[in-house]
Amino acid sequence: MLAMNYRGPKRVRIDQKPEPTILHPEDAIVRVTRSCICGSDLHLYNGLVPDTRVGSTFGHEFVGVVEEIGSEVTNVKVGDKVLVPFNIACGKCAFCKQGLFGNCHEANSQATAVGGIFGYSHTAGGYDGGQAEYVRVPYANVGPTVIPEGMDPDDAVLLTDVVPTGYQAAEMGGIQKGDTVVIFGAGPIGIMAAKCSWLFGAGRVIVIDHIEYRLEFARNYAQCEAYNFKSMDDPVLFIKKETDWMGADVCIDAVGAEAAGDVMQTITGRKLILQAGSATALHWAINSVKKGGIVSIVGVYGPTDNLIPIGDVVNKGITIRANQASVKRLLPKMIEHVQNGVLDPKGLITHRVPLEEISDAYHIFSEKLDNCIKPVLIPPSANR
Ligand SMILES: NC(=O)c1ccc[n+]([C@@H]2O[C@H](COP(=O)([O-])OP(=O)(O)OC[C@H]3O[C@@H](n4cnc5c(N)ncnc54)[C@H](O)[C@@H]3O)[C@@H](O)[C@H]2O)c1
Ligand SMILES: [Zn+2]
Ligand SMILES: [Zn+2]
Repeated sequence: MLAMNYRGPKRVRIDQKPEPTILHPEDAIVRVTRSCICGSDLHLYNGLVPDTRVGSTFGHEFVGVVEEIGSEVTNVKVGDKVLVPFNIACGKCAFCKQGLFGNCHEANSQATAVGGIFGYSHTAGGYDGGQAEYVRVPYANVGPTVIPEGMDPDDAVLLTDVVPTGYQAAEMGGIQKGDTVVIFGAGPIGIMAAKCSWLFGAGRVIVIDHIEYRLEFARNYAQCEAYNFKSMDDPVLFIKKETDWMGADVCIDAVGAEAAGDVMQTITGRKLILQAGSATALHWAINSVKKGGIVSIVGVYGPTDNLIPIGDVVNKGITIRANQASVKRLLPKMIEHVQNGVLDPKGLITHRVPLEEISDAYHIFSEKLDNCIKPVLIPPSANR
């Protein structure tokens, strides 16, 4: 089959790989009909995630058709069209039982923090992902969810990560009616978090980024204010001024380890990798939230130490909430929102790229070229 093949930082290509097979009675094999490239994939692509092995296949956002099931799979059957949450979760451990499907203790043998994730290095379990024609889906009684009748597959594929992650970012912000919510990052995740902030009763939603086309997209898609940090002397001061010097009620970090905007952070975090990425957006979030406010983090950072202003966290008495999105927990509500037209995930998709041209797709998305917000990969197996 055709599958994306990681060859080292900034080098991905399409290769022939053996088709996956059932390795456990609870496995399913899914023929992929659409997959996406996520901002999280860019951390792998840029070589910032430890133990990303040459030869691995990325891709944690995909939908497809069940081709084969193991003897103990009862929740899906051959021929079902399914969306597959990016978290690989057993459904039975203490964490899964609490709805923490992103923190499954069984799906990742390294299970100190994150659970299993499709196509996300050996720190997330070493599973191959869905930027391929076929993918092995472990614990198939838990993750794969039959796509509701009539749902557009473009909406379905964004329910595997972008929608629940944006929603959970807003949810973890504990937004109260009338709150001012500031979101750092106008990628698909930040834009969806902005859209979802309104669902929790926000009174004002502000998105900060430095890429003009993305700010414009955020304004239109999420009906929010959006500002370019390049045109500010100091983003923290800007937000203070905008909020009567109180600070934002809620700040959301939807940027993560590859933040721009601070030379020292960029050099130590992104170029020399002396810390777990650049913590610029997180600094801004901590320093521009009000005292007693809430910082919600969905941006991904490396597992090692990070130079964040932790003293300010303590002195301001702010609450930080962070996690991988727990897709399965949120799916029933997200599906309802899509079906009722409250959320329009496919509106984020700007590029459809044949899987064979994956190397171009990574380049375009990574360099933010051609007004790209969210690329979807269409494998040849989609037309079978
Ligand atoms: N927790 C989860 O479950 C989860 C799920 C999906 C994605 N993520 C993470 O969320 C983050 C965003 O994902 P995405 O797909 O939207 O990525 P993306 O790369 O498309 O978007 C990131 C945006 O942040 C902007 N940015 C850079 N520095 C900034 C700064 N200092 N302040 C404000 N904006 C800045 C960039 O210009 C870019 O538009 C990534 O770190 C990704 O790994 C987490
Ligand atoms: Zn993703
Ligand atoms: Zn589990």
